[in-house]
Amino acid sequence: MQSIAEVDLGTPASSSSEQIDLTIDGRAVRVPRGTSVLRAAALAGISVPKLCATDLIEAFGSCRLCLVQIEGMKGYPASCTTLVTAGMKVTTQNNRLAQLRRGVMELYISDHPLDCLTCPANGHCELQDMAGAVGLRAVRYGYSGANHLQAEKDESNPYFTFDPSKCIVCSRCVRACDEQQGTLALTIQGRGFDSKVAASQDDSFLDSECVSCGACVQACPTATLSEKSLIDSGQAEHSIVTTCGYCGVGCSFRAEMRGEQVVRMVPNKDGHANHGHSCVKGRFAIGYVNHPDRITRPMIRASITDHWREVSWKEAITHAASELKRIQAKYGRDSIGAITSSRCTNEETYLMQKLVRAGFGNNNVDTCARVCHSPTGYGLKNTLGESAGTQRFDSVMLSDVVMVIGANPTDGHPVFASQLKRRLRQGAKLIVVDPRRIDLVRTPHIEATYHLPLKPGTNVALINSLAHVIVTSGWVKEDFVRERCEIDSFEKWRRFVAEPRNSPEAMEAVTGVSAELVRGAARLYASAGNGAIYYGLGVTEHSQGSTMVMGIANLAMATANLGREGVGVNPLRGQNNVQGSCDMGSFPHEFPAYRHVSDATVRGQFERAWGRQLLAEPGLRIPNMFEAALDGEFKGLYIQGEDIAQSDPNTQHVTAALSAMDCIIVQDLFLNETAKFAHVFLPGSSFLEKDGTFTNAERRVSPVRKVMRAPAGYADWEITQLLSNELGLPMNYTHASEILDEIARLTPTFTGISFEKLDRLGSVQWPCNDEHPEGTPTMHEHTFVRGKGRFLITEYVPTSERVNVRYPLLLTTGRVLTQYNVGAQTRRTANVVWYDEDRLEIHPHDAEERGIGPDDWVGVQSRAGDTVLRAVITDRVQPGVVYTTFHFPDSGANVITTDNSDWATNCPEYKVTAVQVVRVSHPSEWQRRHRDFDLQQRALLEEKAPG
Ligand code: SF4
Ligand code: SF4
Ligand code: SF4
Ligand code: FES
Repeated sequence: MQSIAEVDLGTPASSSSEQIDLTIDGRAVRVPRGTSVLRAAALAGISVPKLCATDLIEAFGSCRLCLVQIEGMKGYPASCTTLVTAGMKVTTQNNRLAQLRRGVMELYISDHPLDCLTCPANGHCELQDMAGAVGLRAVRYGYSGANHLQAEKDESNPYFTFDPSKCIVCSRCVRACDEQQGTLALTIQGRGFDSKVAASQDDSFLDSECVSCGACVQACPTATLSEKSLIDSGQAEHSIVTTCGYCGVGCSFRAEMRGEQVVRMVPNKDGHANHGHSCVKGRFAIGYVNHPDRITRPMIRASITDHWREVSWKEAITHAASELKRIQAKYGRDSIGAITSSRCTNEETYLMQKLVRAGFGNNNVDTCARVCHSPTGYGLKNTLGESAGTQRFDSVMLSDVVMVIGANPTDGHPVFASQLKRRLRQGAKLIVVDPRRIDLVRTPHIEATYHLPLKPGTNVALINSLAHVIVTSGWVKEDFVRERCEIDSFEKWRRFVAEPRNSPEAMEAVTGVSAELVRGAARLYASAGNGAIYYGLGVTEHSQGSTMVMGIANLAMATANLGREGVGVNPLRGQNNVQGSCDMGSFPHEFPAYRHVSDATVRGQFERAWGRQLLAEPGLRIPNMFEAALDGEFKGLYIQGEDIAQSDPNTQHVTAALSAMDCIIVQDLFLNETAKFAHVFLPGSSFLEKDGTFTNAERRVSPVRKVMRAPAGYADWEITQLLSNELGLPMNYTHASEILDEIARLTPTFTGISFEKLDRLGSVQWPCNDEHPEGTPTMHEHTFVRGKGRFLITEYVPTSERVNVRYPLLLTTGRVLTQYNVGAQTRRTANVVWYDEDRLEIHPHDAEERGIGPDDWVGVQSRAGDTVLRAVITDRVQPGVVYTTFHFPDSGANVITTDNSDWATNCPEYKVTAVQVVRVSHPSEWQRRHRDFDLQQRALLEEKAPG
């Protein structure tokens, strides 16, 4: 538990290594060059009054409250904009300074509503604090002159209010929006007395370009911008540092609490992934935790047409275990399996795979990473030797050229996007490879040097032609390649990519990208001092996902863009703990840390630790489980925190497989789409209700801390433990830290990680062991993890999913900022004001050809199925390409996606589906059936049978 407010040092830290000595109020102070006098004083424990300065944004020098006296300097300089110099002698307090500061405060206070007792900021208002600090006792100007006290409140944003009557026009909000968030939604309009804060063109916050990140709210020193939750609940009493449960950025937050109620989530300035910033999801969208849909009692039923029956934990666990045992006795050892969750903690995921391998006695465990980043694991392991990204997020601040491939960071990884935008505004160049014109291509003060709008499904053709230009132009960094890589593999690769068939000119017809653009982008990346690649699911979710990851690694090795800060190959992983769920051995062929189950030495270690003999053969992947279920061989599935009926491709195939099983155990917060096919429901816990760790996209292991009790009584790991004990595999952990200790004992990359170290350091990036006791920010520094880097041939093989006369358009999918994954959490928050249904983006040309107007209902038909969505007509997509999201179950985006998958990992080809789009006036047949089924299942839940 921590104190509520963090210390504000006034201006950002300087990164200089040179130290400067000065004296402040007679005290000797040593700080880095580039530090402001205000910060130097704060670091020495001397508090100088301030209003317009705060340490998350650059100093501006407008309020004149932080005046100091400096020997040898004329007048009274503002300490926030004055940098320290060697030997400087600063005085922060004397009568003249006090008089000047009181004068400034008088002016502010004479135009401020003095409703301090009822103001939501009472107790943490900097204006109030400063009035006290300068000793203000009276206001000579009175309160009767012209003022802003009647200015109207803007309540349009669901999470915060804007009350201009309290604004002191310090512009901290404007600068936070510009510098921290990079949206530039706010301005100061007018001059002098008339100046005021305006969102966009003086719109309401909701209608403006504001993306509701909350940086301005955090920056505001008054109650002008205030969280509504704070207004409703009053000030917090304590705070606990934990990690966001949404995306793979892994932002650190202080949950500010009153008892067990979250008053507000404040991004942690010490957070290594976010440095005090956040997005709308992590800061505001936590209302789902207390949503009435939350299921808080265990339930069972014999068949999915029966009413649910609420039962005790004992009965639910006994029933689930006896069903699993019965199925194994009847259908064999391999007839059951489990799916782990990338939203749960490392400790929970680890226990799930342990239960399967040692308790079920098979290796039938898989995870949702199967459907997102499994090709990253495969591709990077085979080229570089380690399955994870190579850098820390901060590394991007040293990049000269950034290539973003198949990722949309402003929506999917917003806090990283803000950091990237900051670097781009400083002058780094940007290449975007994406079929769609994502926001990064052109956004305030940023324009990509190259946007390569390739046709969906042609990534490998494009990466080969980029490599072709680099190789044939003599831009390979030969020294690096000779020293660090397998030279035979390089020579083979060089010959392959140099073949004329891989030239940009030859590939132009395939990719749809002009050779000139490809040549320009290749030159820019190859000539960068530091070139970094960031990529997302637009790379992996293809039939050649693994090939493309290898192609990216080849390109980075050939240009020496690995092994130091500013460069690298960086998968932007989607869910909060998808890296962790892979690290923890969720795949059917691997123990924790990606060690194959056939490795007798590794298997022996786990056998000794777990006291069970383990299988050397890999188990079933998720698609294999579905096939086996339809063949009548796979009958029982334990699913923790995943909604495969919504998230996995070809929904009708998935639901047929679920319907074919005897016992489905779902452990979750809500009756999700999958739970509608379940026989046992075990109410799970949210990220606020448990202890453990998450691992973000930069391999950073961060603490997750319980701030409130789980309404059903147990954290998810405790539920797994109950089931395991009932099945006869004893588990007796009393705290999640004991599970992490076991992971550390058995996992070489985690040996140095413990709850104690995480509490001390905040977070660490694995590998963390004797060699790297404080973690590893940059991978492959002197040598690749596999020794020499290996180039692999990346032959372009077109997907079998082709357009034809019947299905002439290519559908690709993605996500939006305000919704998350299957939407189970964000749909149950006020985020629906920004996005309340999945829509289909279609180019004006394709729309016109089909007589489709804005907001028309359109039928989208593929070889797998059809659904109906509303149309958005936009040239963000190119002609021939349509785009949608999959956040809402009723839109059924995955009814359309097919069974095609990556050749190496079975990762589904979500990003390429041939479709036809037509104007329609009623829902699809699938939607009608889905709605009926949904109504039936809700009724079976609401009218529960007596317990
Ligand atoms: S809204 Fe707050 S941060 Fe913005 S100018 Fe007004 S007082 Fe300053
Ligand atoms: S919430 Fe974020 S995006 Fe919106 S105005 Fe404030 S800083 Fe800008
Ligand atoms: S960027 Fe991701 S981790 Fe950070 S607050 Fe937003 S959703 Fe949470
Ligand atoms: S805090 Fe320095 S001028 Fe406002």
